[in-house]
Amino acid sequence: MKIALDGPSGAGKSTVARALAKKLGIIYVDTGALYRTIGLHAKLRGVGMYDTERIKELLPEITLGMEFINGEQIVTLNGVNVGDTIRTGEIAMYASSVSAIPEVRAFLLETQRKIARENSVVMDGRDIGTVILPDAEVKIFMFASPEARAERRYKELIAKGENCTYEGVLEDIKLRDHNDSTRKTAPAIPADDAVMLDNSSLDIDGTVDAAIEIIKSKVQL
Ligand code: DC
Repeated sequence: MKIALDGPSGAGKSTVARALAKKLGIIYVDTGALYRTIGLHAKLRGVGMYDTERIKELLPEITLGMEFINGEQIVTLNGVNVGDTIRTGEIAMYASSVSAIPEVRAFLLETQRKIARENSVVMDGRDIGTVILPDAEVKIFMFASPEARAERRYKELIAKGENCTYEGVLEDIKLRDHNDSTRKTAPAIPADDAVMLDNSSLDIDGTVDAAIEIIKSKVQL
């Protein structure tokens, strides 16, 4: 079974996808981690996030690995587990920027398709239903207002001890939304056959329940 879960940053896709994977006994694949890892490599090599030409030149020196240990996804960059180093605001901006480069998307395409060929997956991303798994049995496009997403993200970052303001987080979300939805290659837009799930006023359990209903309407569980 392949479930594509797309939508903008901060809609809660990863939390919901993880819960769905657990309930359904399938693997949760976080594809954003791959873009973040390319961004991390660029940063480590001292390449600026908008330096498209140099980022493209870095690709041949990158070997990405993806493994699943007890259901947890581990991403390796040239053999080293990236862990939480890809979870900073700066790397999120890097990821958004590198993800607009067609060569980067092409570089990551097969890694994503291979995992879905070999496993039942709920795959979270931006172009899973449109580009990576156009034949997915279930496609959900999950979203919430920028303000609702900024508030959730702000609380998460503060809990992690990051120094930020709500206004700054909202601005970042709007900028990433703009970058991700207006880029020429694989913009973050719903597939024609995706079911829209607005969770602005739903909590996590409510969103998971709504997603399960959508899945049940498409496949026999
Ligand atoms: O889901 P995330 O925040 O970890 O994603 C980081 C960035 O990567 C985000 O700005 C959009 C991009 N991305 C993408 O273009 N395609 C995907 N399938 C996943 C993420």
